[in-house]
Amino acid sequence: MADLAIHKKHFLSERVAHFTESVIREMTRQAMLHDAINLAQGFPDFPAPAEIKRAAQEAIGADVNQYAITWGAKSLRGAIAQQIETRQGVAVDPEKQVTVCCGSTEAMISTLLAVCNAGDEVVIFEPYYENYGPDSILSGARPRFVKLKPPRDAEGEWTFDERELRAAFHKHTKAIIVNTPNNPTGKVFSRRELELVRDLCVEFDVLAITDEIYEHILYDGSKHISMASLEGMQDRTITVNGMSKTYSVTGWRVGWTIAPPRITDAIRKVHDFLTVGAPAPLQEAGASALRLPSSYYVNLAEGYRRRRDQLVPALTAAGFRCFLPRGAYYVMTDISRFGFPDDLAFTHYLVSEIGVAAVPGSSFYRDPKDGEQQVRFAFCKRDQTLDEAAKRLSKVQAARRS
Ligand SMILES: Cc1ncc(COP(=O)(O)O)c(C=O)c1O
Repeated sequence: MADLAIHKKHFLSERVAHFTESVIREMTRQAMLHDAINLAQGFPDFPAPAEIKRAAQEAIGADVNQYAITWGAKSLRGAIAQQIETRQGVAVDPEKQVTVCCGSTEAMISTLLAVCNAGDEVVIFEPYYENYGPDSILSGARPRFVKLKPPRDAEGEWTFDERELRAAFHKHTKAIIVNTPNNPTGKVFSRRELELVRDLCVEFDVLAITDEIYEHILYDGSKHISMASLEGMQDRTITVNGMSKTYSVTGWRVGWTIAPPRITDAIRKVHDFLTVGAPAPLQEAGASALRLPSSYYVNLAEGYRRRRDQLVPALTAAGFRCFLPRGAYYVMTDISRFGFPDDLAFTHYLVSEIGVAAVPGSSFYRDPKDGEQQVRFAFCKRDQTLDEAAKRLSKVQAARRS
């Protein structure tokens, strides 16, 4: 054992030295340790829809228990192609353009491994969903960050500087990752913003990898626009999506890519050797889920709007400055009023003394300093959970006064 400890360093790849463990998943462990309410990790604490659970049980009962086709069950690929055609007007061949993966997490890393070479750069808006940094590094690419600037007032939008975005594109740029609706900011990219990205992708011959996992979770009349639906983008867009958020089944691990055929071939090769395939019975249930009536999606968004409007006033009353999300199910907050040295000290205090787990803002930035006065809360939780969190959070204000 002693020898192992001494030589451990030599057993590890250099790749893993360039990123740390997930802060979000670590906060979930902290929540369990302190018996705190977990508003850190974005998983619902309420049941998944009964009809899709039944579909999964039926699939297992019908012995759909062996490997599915490596790039995904035909029924699910068909439903995916049909849904994006109906909702976004994008024609997709399920035989040549869809790859079902183990969650959109695997879909993203398989895509990057399929398209990146050493020395390539991947443009990422920050704050960003923490996986994108390690994903780029694992695929040999260098992430290049473009800032999203927080709104000046509670109702404003996160924006980016067009010149900064343009400056991030050059001859080594392979791809840009766009996540809309966005985690952690709740920003929903407008058509104009997506067209700006499109124009740069065309000018510099760059791919757009769009993570649209929150596409159905929208507020205040926001509209989701798929990058692939923009003129000129079908041949250079990889759309990443999955069941986790739309159907409240983050543990099922079913996601997918939609990409041009040649890129799909490459993604399928990576995917096959990484995981062989996503869970077969859950893919069958996925095919049923994607055919739920449109009322399902209306209710989903409305349920999250209600939860947003439950948590945001509670946070505001507790002294947080909230940036109102237009989509997804997180709220980014500014904690500078509390006078803590940084977000790590604050989230530690929050989980251990107040009993609420949240994610330190620095985990969404390359330079931790940029997020040291920000904290993210997830509101994909039951009313009772949010009520109890609000009760506990009200003590933060009291602690500040004392
Ligand atoms: C933007 C974004 N993409 C991907 C994921 C992971 O999705 P999946 O469960 O499909 O792997 C998350 C989960 O929080 C997310 O926020």
